[in-house]
Amino acid sequence: MSFSFEGFVDAVREAACEPDANAAVRAVLERCVADPDRIRNQTPLEGDDEVMLFEDDKLSIWRCRFQPQVLMPPHEHKLDVHIAGYSGREKSILFKRRNDQLKFEGTEIVGSGEVLSLDDKCIHAVTAEGDVPSLALHVYMGPLMQLKRGLYDWETGEQVDFTLENFDAMKRPASAFPEF
Ligand SMILES: [Fe+2]
Repeated sequence: MSFSFEGFVDAVREAACEPDANAAVRAVLERCVADPDRIRNQTPLEGDDEVMLFEDDKLSIWRCRFQPQVLMPPHEHKLDVHIAGYSGREKSILFKRRNDQLKFEGTEIVGSGEVLSLDDKCIHAVTAEGDVPSLALHVYMGPLMQLKRGLYDWETGEQVDFTLENFDAMKRPASAFPEF
């Protein structure tokens, strides 16, 4: 069966109405990325790396491409999120915040065909592991762009408002943090 982003959004929206929305949405994602080539074939090579496919009060659905040489800054979502890989390897660098500082907790890799679920307390930085960009579907269980949420300074752990300007300014080359 062919894949379309419209059909995918419809399936996720339907799943989000189930009594256990997290489990149902995750199951849709697992089913979709079980055949990753179908999604890759429908993904434009050009255009924005991060594309919002849908958002309402209940759900935010994105398609995200990350580049291996760029680290996206540590940030929170304040929502449960399910990340389903369909090309390359997306790396989450996980942190906890203690005494106003960021404490590195470990990394999680999402390979093609895999789904990672993170809870609403999670703080992560993101990049692509390896030499090629990663591609994944991200489903946030609420209105991501309507929430006031934080970015965290790489060195000091200080919280700043999540704005596109701050997000861009706080990106780092992967070579800046070889320990990750
Ligand atoms: Fe994120």
